[in-house]
Amino acid sequence: MAYIQFIDISKSYGDNKVLKNINLSIEKNEFVTLLGSSGCGKTTLLRILAGFESIDSGKIVLDGEDITNKNPRDRNIGMIFQSYCLFPTMNVFNNVAYGLRFKKIDKKTIEKEVFSALESVNLQDKAKSYPSQLSGGQQQRVALARSIVMKPKVLLLDEPFNAIDAKLRKSLQIKVKEIHEEYGMTSIMVTHDQDEAMIMSDTIHLVKNGNIEQSGTSTELYLYPRTKYVASFMGNYNVLEPKVFSKMTLGKYTDTKTVVLRPEAIEIQSEKCGKIEKDLYQFEGIIQDYIPQGNIVRFIILVEDTKLNVDTLVDNLTYFSIGQKVYLDVDLEKVLYYD
Ligand SMILES: Nc1ncnc2c1ncn2[C@@H]1O[C@H](COP(=O)(O)OP(=O)(O)O)[C@@H](O)[C@H]1O
Ligand SMILES: [Mg+2]
Repeated sequence: MAYIQFIDISKSYGDNKVLKNINLSIEKNEFVTLLGSSGCGKTTLLRILAGFESIDSGKIVLDGEDITNKNPRDRNIGMIFQSYCLFPTMNVFNNVAYGLRFKKIDKKTIEKEVFSALESVNLQDKAKSYPSQLSGGQQQRVALARSIVMKPKVLLLDEPFNAIDAKLRKSLQIKVKEIHEEYGMTSIMVTHDQDEAMIMSDTIHLVKNGNIEQSGTSTELYLYPRTKYVASFMGNYNVLEPKVFSKMTLGKYTDTKTVVLRPEAIEIQSEKCGKIEKDLYQFEGIIQDYIPQGNIVRFIILVEDTKLNVDTLVDNLTYFSIGQKVYLDVDLEKVLYYD
């Protein structure tokens, strides 16, 4: 049996049906992400698991026990809220130590644990500061330390890195994964950032309007999106209406399905390849712009009146410039079609 089970969970606020019969199983030690756009119900689902929110119907099982009506304090679940909820009148040390003081642990051990947690979020020198003296990102890191110091069985992370700058974010993502592994936690993270979800998760559950749209590994969701929505969420897929794609291919495409192309599935060339190949879609375009992204570069290419994202290794940048006419090939095998 799965470690955490959401069974037929429904939740409304007035007429607003926020969660619609959610069924979700999470294994012990799994790192899971609830991914979705703002307002789709992610935070609500986490709060329900933590016990801060009632449900209209359904059941929650943790480690074989029905915890649907259990007091939040007795669930051994640690939650980091989207708004950090630090105690404003306590300094950083006391904020982090707060939960430990309810456990029967001696002062020395508390101090050691608190500093170890602060160190893992790089804030050991801010122990005496008050929340109002910290930036948003620093406050968020205190919130992170306050949760991990408790070593909960289940760690819930609601957009835990959204206020943290890009460079520190990467190292914190790694740190959180390490702590997750080290203490054998089961972690559920909420994010609207598909890159973050892909980097961190064993399993991603993509949430849309209170339903689970698709569940799987990052690779499964990226390569085999079940719907147009998943495709457009997971990468910088090109989603092309049938009429548009027909025009781009100068009439070669005649179907009525929407066409979805991964940016790296389109090959860019500066010379037209002589023969027309049967197993390729070929079109011409003009480079409008490019965005270097480290090892890869994304070209924005205008084909007829449509902009395409085309990714290629950065080495290719030397062959191309803005305004240049280019020739694009797409392997028929790499095209996805949706109704
Ligand atoms: N306490 C509340 N009272 C009324 N509506 C709420 C409350 N909390 C959330 N909602 C509504 O529920 C929906 C889902 O919210 P939420 O779970 O916070 O979304 P997400 O975290 O995915 O952005 C939104 O439409 C939001 O306005
Ligand atoms: Mg939220």
